[in-house]
Amino acid sequence: MSCTYLVNREHPLAPDFIPEFLIQADIPFHLCEPESRRMLCRPAAEAAHQLFCYSRAFHISLYGISGYRPYARQQEIYNSSLQSRGREHTERFIAAPGCSEHQTGLALDVSCPDVGFDLTEAFENTREGKWLRTYAPMFGFILRYPQNKEEITGYAYEPWHIRYVSKPLALYLSLTGLSLEEYHRI
Ligand code: DAL
Ligand code: ZN
Repeated sequence: MSCTYLVNREHPLAPDFIPEFLIQADIPFHLCEPESRRMLCRPAAEAAHQLFCYSRAFHISLYGISGYRPYARQQEIYNSSLQSRGREHTERFIAAPGCSEHQTGLALDVSCPDVGFDLTEAFENTREGKWLRTYAPMFGFILRYPQNKEEITGYAYEPWHIRYVSKPLALYLSLTGLSLEEYHRI
């Protein structure tokens, strides 16, 4: 699979899709189980390692929360969110099974101690959130679900969800302000 591949509600993955070259990302994780959460596709894992190493020079305390998710794990998360938070919240924040780019091994959720390692909008105001927003594209990652693009991406603002797309594309998207959906429409 190309690292620029588009996955969303309109472009789902097959339930049995498993990415090639999944490896354990050499970055600090807040939780280690299940083991799959620490896995990423090799290029994304290597880029994440470099991003996290670079962040230490700025005394930035980033942690990985969730990387690769198999279809069945996404189904569990989706169903559990439907039960606990209802359909409206779930549809804005959690992709249905097959529609999550976590299944590609190219997406990574990150957080930091200042927000209790939560995946919360408050992350954007932390030093870590601000640093990530600035430096992620230099390592090939984009903030995949930006503010004010909910109607285009299909999901609410998620300052914690980064997606590996390669350095040239990440820099292009950050300079133009285009989302991955808009890029694929051009
Ligand atoms: N939170 C993103 C949309 C996902 O579940 O993949
Ligand atoms: Zn995510």
